[in-house]
Amino acid sequence: MIRIAVLASGRGSNFQSIIDGIKEGDIDGEIAVLVTDKENAGAIERAEKNGIPSIVVLRDNFESREQMDREIRRILDENKVDLVVLAGYMRIISPELLGPYENKIINIHPALLPSFPGVDGQKDAFEYGVKVSGCSVHFVDGGMDTGPIIEQTCVRIDDCKTPEEVGAKILPFEHKTMRKVVANFSKGKYIVKGRRVRYEKY
Ligand code: GAR
Repeated sequence: MIRIAVLASGRGSNFQSIIDGIKEGDIDGEIAVLVTDKENAGAIERAEKNGIPSIVVLRDNFESREQMDREIRRILDENKVDLVVLAGYMRIISPELLGPYENKIINIHPALLPSFPGVDGQKDAFEYGVKVSGCSVHFVDGGMDTGPIIEQTCVRIDDCKTPEEVGAKILPFEHKTMRKVVANFSKGKYIVKGRRVRYEKY
């Protein structure tokens, strides 16, 4: 049974997919804590409904990003977590947090990396005019969506008329992909060699 921390800034639908994966027996784990950088994040209500403790860590309360990440690291250490999931957490992680959690922090991105990194993956893919996009789950490093890729799912977006449609079409695939990767983490290990990631079941 793995202990998971989720970091989220928004509505928390990917967070929900992990909650559901645990409830439905796919993921052998428990969510120890939700950490959010937004007081009004929808994820907080989902945590409350499911008896998961949530902690708000506001950037304004810290002099620097590094100090903020040191506080998040303290929370993660205190909760003895094995896996940290960024589920719509819209911040770059600093070395203060990355160091001790190397290859234990994963992120979901709404495009096929390395295409369209950043905060507007769905809109950027739409405007570029690609016919196929999708989502990626990857390990987090110091860059913007640059860490080794764990899993990807392709989604045709040539029938979408707006960036919002692209986002809505990709979202359910994000949930499935995220849930699958977290389930795998709970039943085996991902081995990282350079940029390549391989899975081994226990
Ligand atoms: C998701 O689409 C996720 O891929 C994206 O934010 C959304 C969060 O939705 N993340 C990024 O763009 C990270 N660069 P959610 O709060 O409902 O899970």
